[in-house]
Amino acid sequence: MVGETGRCGSVYGGVAEPCTVILFGASGDLAKRKVIPAMYDLAAHNALGPRYAIVGFARTAMTEDAFRASLGEAAKTISEVGPIDPKKWDEFASNLYYCPGDYGNQEAYAQLAKRLAELEASKNLGSNRLFYLSTPPEVYSDIVEQLGRAGLARPSSPESWVRIIIEKPFGRDLASAKELNKIVLNVFDEKQVYRIDHYLGKDTVQNLLVLRFGNGIFEPLWNRNYVDHVQITAAETLGVERRGGFYETAGALRDMIQSHVLQLTSLVAVEPPAAFDATAVRNEKLKVLQSIRPFNLEMVAQSIVRGQYAPGKIGEPVPGYRDEPGVNPASKTETFVAGKLLIDNWRWAGVPFYIRTGKRLAKRSTVIMIQFHCAPHIVFREREVEPNRLVLNIQPDEGISISFGAKRPGTEMSIGNVTMDFSYREGFGDTTRSAYATLLNDCVRGDATLFDRGDSVEAAWALVDPILDVWSATRTAKVPQYPAGSWGPRESDLLLEREGRQWYNP
Ligand code: BG6
Repeated sequence: MVGETGRCGSVYGGVAEPCTVILFGASGDLAKRKVIPAMYDLAAHNALGPRYAIVGFARTAMTEDAFRASLGEAAKTISEVGPIDPKKWDEFASNLYYCPGDYGNQEAYAQLAKRLAELEASKNLGSNRLFYLSTPPEVYSDIVEQLGRAGLARPSSPESWVRIIIEKPFGRDLASAKELNKIVLNVFDEKQVYRIDHYLGKDTVQNLLVLRFGNGIFEPLWNRNYVDHVQITAAETLGVERRGGFYETAGALRDMIQSHVLQLTSLVAVEPPAAFDATAVRNEKLKVLQSIRPFNLEMVAQSIVRGQYAPGKIGEPVPGYRDEPGVNPASKTETFVAGKLLIDNWRWAGVPFYIRTGKRLAKRSTVIMIQFHCAPHIVFREREVEPNRLVLNIQPDEGISISFGAKRPGTEMSIGNVTMDFSYREGFGDTTRSAYATLLNDCVRGDATLFDRGDSVEAAWALVDPILDVWSATRTAKVPQYPAGSWGPRESDLLLEREGRQWYNP
């Protein structure tokens, strides 16, 4: 449907019922930058239900007016959901409420329960409730347990629902993820739990499934017989910004690989699901994670590279990671990871998946490159022909391009490499939409297809755990440095060069 614009009344599908969203961590950065603007966008498109309330819960003591004003101020500087319409914002803000409290304090939850009951009665909201955990992960278990104790985790009638969205990181290793799953599933049923990874809310990420399973021409080639290798890059130009304290406890492996990059890998490699529904899609994605060859000490040494950004230039001079606020000047935390994954199944046996992510790299780009085998026999005098590549630009410049050889004009039979490009913007108009809004929209409609299930989160941690173990056992080893503004440490290039390949740098 070329020419259809993304930002119209029908952006968000399905009918939503009245509901109350309870946002934990409501005064925090994530709430202000992502969650509240996404809710505003839904409300502005009449997609948050005919009647709704959003109750912020956080430790900071402030009045409801101050809460509304602080979100209003923040919203002005948010561009992700487009400019804020002041009239629509005022209407949205009149549905915002605030409940201060300590996450571990039982009394605060009794107060919350009382407030919810009053609001639901006075605004005729019914009793659908969505709890959103956008707090530091250390307090997730407190909140979940307190919700259980306060009797807030169960729907109050057979017709109503209670759901909970839990932000990443879901645990910091396999053991803590299992522990958190146990706590959560003691209080909620799995079908009430929506573990969010905002990459799955991006249109271009979902388009991976459409490209593969909505077309007849790609899937027959999508296997080891035709694909030489796959590259997945999630590159950022930003540094750690104000998150140095958090990042010191995370690093790129936990922050990006365990979640976003493995999500992308799953969608590239997944088998066709029987249907586009939560059970079928998530079952198939889980199988991919379970088929990735587990890392041992030797494989980590050979196939995983880490790095840390040193001072450099991103337009202007920028400091190195160790000079960032909140970062230990002798820190060994990695801001870059590259690695090779092998998927041991019939479709992908022997096809390397090279993955890479980093902060302060040369360009902001999330891109998936599928490189096909060269033609088996070249009949032309020109022996060196480029392999065909399918490039999926996840962000920015969302689009797809395919490269192939074409005869150069002229009397010589000479081959040039050309590309055919599809741009989301040109094809569909302005498609800027917040991934968070898409996922929230799914959640209020009860569709968990694009959320993580407990078993998949654990499978992803099971994969990265051995890497974390090797790194912590070799704590004295140096972490290779790379200048900000480059494509990472030299070791990352060597990883591919050793195998006669090169990174595709967008
Ligand atoms: C977050 C990470 O999950 O994803 C951040 O914690 C990272 O460190 C961000 O910057 C990247 O998201 P996006 O949508 O900008 O690619």
